[in-house]
Amino acid sequence: MTASTSSVITLHVNGEPRTLTVDHRTTLLDALREHLGLTGTKKGCDHGQCGACTVLLDGRRAVACLQLAVAAEGRAVTTIEGVAEDGRLHPVQEAFLELDGYQCGYCTPGQICSALAVLDEHAAGWPSAATADVRPEAGPPALTDDEIRERMSGNLCRCSAYPAIVRAVAQAAKAVSA
Ligand code: FES
Ligand code: FES
Repeated sequence: MTASTSSVITLHVNGEPRTLTVDHRTTLLDALREHLGLTGTKKGCDHGQCGACTVLLDGRRAVACLQLAVAAEGRAVTTIEGVAEDGRLHPVQEAFLELDGYQCGYCTPGQICSALAVLDEHAAGWPSAATADVRPEAGPPALTDDEIRERMSGNLCRCSAYPAIVRAVAQAAKAVSA
């Protein structure tokens, strides 16, 4: 008997159940782009090194090129297409637009998904490698430019829009905490 090389899976993408048949080797990135037509999530390196394919999996960031689609079965996937709500941009998206946090825009969906997670991780009090004092009693670190750079360091930008990206994340952090 020959083992099947594909499976029917259901992904919960941007709040909607999406059922599809995928080869077991299909990455989440290819499932999103090629099977579901959600091309907002970009393929840069396809090796987990650039962050262009960053999505949120159950609210935490993940590089979709290193995740098998079958392993995401039943999990909540948020892509850039699902970040705005009721036609209103998220404050992170508004900040990137307002402060020119991009040039060609290819890395931007991944940058924005990563920034969303950064704000959540920081609000939850998670330290980063840039946090000087990680003792629990020290409390959450201020979201300084160095903290933002470190926390966003998994997302590369070939256009080097980094200064504006840092400004955009800082502005969005103020907006969501206001
Ligand atoms: S395309 Fe996934 S990390 Fe580069
Ligand atoms: S804006 Fe062009 S790669 Fe980042």
